[in-house]
Amino acid sequence: MQLTFIDRSEQRYVVVADRGMSVMQAAVENLVPGILGDCGGACACATCHVHVDPEWMDLAGPPSEIEAQLLDGVLDLRPTSRLACQIVVNDSLDGLVVHLPESQI
Ligand code: FES
Repeated sequence: MQLTFIDRSEQRYVVVADRGMSVMQAAVENLVPGILGDCGGACACATCHVHVDPEWMDLAGPPSEIEAQLLDGVLDLRPTSRLACQIVVNDSLDGLVVHLPESQI
């Protein structure tokens, strides 16, 4: 599966991810700058905040209740905000595009 991360200067990072891994894991393993993943994917740190591209929001889905609570504390919260560790890569997300916020902290 292919994922694309786009930073604030429109730099694109295209990575290949395995089905079942999280978008955060794919970013960290491929050294995408701007995704920290400090808690290892436990939905406890919010340093994996991304803005899902609007065209992908339906497939990525909304945050869970716990995820939404954590998102309340991030900088630049948007309707498209998700925690990348809570998005699991599957066939329907092949080609997913997410945008990186200015800062995670
Ligand atoms: Fe900590 Fe996603 S890695 S909340």
